[in-house]
Amino acid sequence: MTKMFFEPLNGKRISEKEFNLRYAHIESLRVVHPKFSEIKSEVTKIHNLSKANVKAEQLCIIGQTGAGKSSIIELYASKYPHVEEEERTHIPVLLVSVPPRAKSPRVLASKILREMKDQFFDSGSEEHMTHRICNYVDKCDIKMIFLDEFHHLIDRDTDYVLASASDWLKTFIDKVKIPVVLVGLPESERIFSYNEQLDGRYPNRMVLPPFSYSSKKDIIEFRRFLVSIDDKLPLSELSNLSDPELAAKIFYFSFGVPRYVMNLLKSATEISLNKGKDLITEIELRDAFNRITRSTRPYAINPFENTKFHLMDEIEKEKKIHEQLFQSEPKKGKRK
Ligand SMILES: Nc1ncnc2c1ncn2[C@@H]1O[C@H](COP(=O)(O)OP(=O)(O)OP(=O)(O)O)[C@@H](O)[C@H]1O
Ligand SMILES: [Mg+2]
Repeated sequence: MTKMFFEPLNGKRISEKEFNLRYAHIESLRVVHPKFSEIKSEVTKIHNLSKANVKAEQLCIIGQTGAGKSSIIELYASKYPHVEEEERTHIPVLLVSVPPRAKSPRVLASKILREMKDQFFDSGSEEHMTHRICNYVDKCDIKMIFLDEFHHLIDRDTDYVLASASDWLKTFIDKVKIPVVLVGLPESERIFSYNEQLDGRYPNRMVLPPFSYSSKKDIIEFRRFLVSIDDKLPLSELSNLSDPELAAKIFYFSFGVPRYVMNLLKSATEISLNKGKDLITEIELRDAFNRITRSTRPYAINPFENTKFHLMDEIEKEKKIHEQLFQSEPKKGKRK
């Protein structure tokens, strides 16, 4: 089946310019799936309340790596670009990534100031920086802040919650009086357990889970996701990725995590484009699988080489190999 938009290659060599164009397209490809849409609606609600100067509501978005958290907030923020005006920059929504090792509040405050385009983002006391941020919020008419990588408030070296930075964040949230949406990995929950005052300010937490294959409804949802991706791929023909067997194989590779789904499909698309092909088949998926290194899945088989693939059996087999090897490994540091 042919799609609009991308010209067929019909076996011809793709030009470098065309390849780059199509690669950029796949890099920015996003699908608004049901959970994505649910979180986006909540963000919109909170933003609208803030725009109407109603009390700031807070939200925390949690999800494992690659689930698509940053994608949601980046897509949302892209709808509200910064606008240079004569006297100020209008910043409707500010997106900040918490730097790693934000041991002191100044490191975090300085990062926020930098995103606000403050020339002297690194200077001043903690109090002075906080004051400047609040001034920018008024002056630039900022109505919502996203703080991505919120889990960076846990020190990776010591595994402790960074006490002063998380305390500062709590005070800062009270001072700015606009929604500060926190976005992070599941371990972010530990910051709330540690800091009760922050915990109380964030009763609204939404989880962005990976896709699942446990029920008929889950399978349909994952296959719908694949239909949308198929439709958006920079190839002139549909690849029928949502075919039940193919979908199960893609699920096996990705465990439903959008980053892994896209890694596989990006690589397979690249292989197809370089062959002058207008769709992806299992051959390109097989080769894409072989190109991708996954340190976390050393015992995964290549499902695209396998005509008799059964998802649950393969998951079970992989788990067993892992358990057997893990149990037989000598425990480190144990003396006789
Ligand atoms: N809704 C989506 N549609 C299509 N692709 C997606 C979607 N969500 C995520 N992806 C793919 O997964 C990749 C990772 O997404 P993203 O960076 O949003 O994940 P994350 O949850 O922020 O991960 P991390 O915790 O590691 O920062 C994206 O670059 C994109 O390729
Ligand atoms: Mg992210």
